[in-house]
Amino acid sequence: MTTALPFTRTPNPQPATPERVAEVLAKPGFGQHFTDHMVTIRWNREQGWHDAAVEPYHSLELDPAAMVLHYGQAIFEGLKAYRRPDGSVASFRPRANAERFRASARRMAMPELPDELFLGSLRELLAADERWVPASGGEESLYLRPYLFATEKGLGVRPSGEYLYVLIASPAGSYFTGGLKPVTVWLSTEYVRAAPGGTGAAKFAGNYAASLVAQAQAASEGCDQVVWLDAVERRWVEEMGGMNLFFVLGSGDDARVVTPELTGSLLPGITRDSLLRLARDFGHGVEERRISTEEWEKKAESGELTEVFACGTAAVITPVGHVKHADGEFSISGGRTGEVSMKLRRHLTGIQQGLVEDPHGWMTKI
Ligand code: PLP
Ligand code: COI
Repeated sequence: MTTALPFTRTPNPQPATPERVAEVLAKPGFGQHFTDHMVTIRWNREQGWHDAAVEPYHSLELDPAAMVLHYGQAIFEGLKAYRRPDGSVASFRPRANAERFRASARRMAMPELPDELFLGSLRELLAADERWVPASGGEESLYLRPYLFATEKGLGVRPSGEYLYVLIASPAGSYFTGGLKPVTVWLSTEYVRAAPGGTGAAKFAGNYAASLVAQAQAASEGCDQVVWLDAVERRWVEEMGGMNLFFVLGSGDDARVVTPELTGSLLPGITRDSLLRLARDFGHGVEERRISTEEWEKKAESGELTEVFACGTAAVITPVGHVKHADGEFSISGGRTGEVSMKLRRHLTGIQQGLVEDPHGWMTKI
């Protein structure tokens, strides 16, 4: 295996000025500003993984017949690096992202990037662009976006024989413009995201392209996000566009935390997995099972369902306050942010920022 590939390093001759970096870090938004460098690694059938490079951030050149432009072989990951109080930088469970990246590659008939190369690419970019990691003490971080796509020239429908892996980085603040305000969601029954046997469990670019029309429908209904239901009965809650969902039944220490089970058509979120662990650590009952839209509405109305929140790398934990669907709407606890959501959020962000003990060894120093 080509795990020990050397990286060539070409520093950016015109890096952003310190004033520009400070200006971006003061108000990073999400996914709008990029650092001075990027990593690229190539793959082809003859050489396997080769030509690993840290280079100035630059445009990519593609043949008009590059297979990704026609048949869409493209996968990505998303993870964050945080500044710790001692000034060092650590990322959250990067090995889990490396493993999921390989799982996505397998589903899309693409080559699997060895974990050591994935982690090496993060290390290289963070070394080159460390000054873009926001200061400790806030929720800002450096969002890392690894991706892989088909570059072979040709119109035959088959797996490409050449791929390009790229890693870019973008300082990140809150994903939702409203900050921590509870969001309103739209239950999508017209469109589905993923069917059994499909690509829903992969972080495959096409899943996001296919979601946009439903997201536009949600926005036209005054909602922030779409909730995807299962493709067969359109009744079982799966996830949101870029987040998993959690439901809290009851309250206080006796609250039970429920999340849709991994059916193969929803993304196995790393935040989801981490929150299941933390909820257990706090002594909450935890269930991974099917949740229907009827159960959601009925238990929200009876008051048994006290909180709902979305979770993911970009979204962290975002409360869901209101739900709309084709036949009506309802609120969860009057649209207020719940206690359990906030307790889990504080603990997770505390671990990520290096403020709280990390008993599971999730933070990885780079
Ligand atoms: N579901 C989808 C469709 C996503 O794109 C994401 C974001 O990565 C998630 C869930 C949450 O996953 P994670 O917690 O690993 O970021
Ligand atoms: C993430 O949370 O990392 C995501 O990929 C969600 C979204 C920005 C697509």
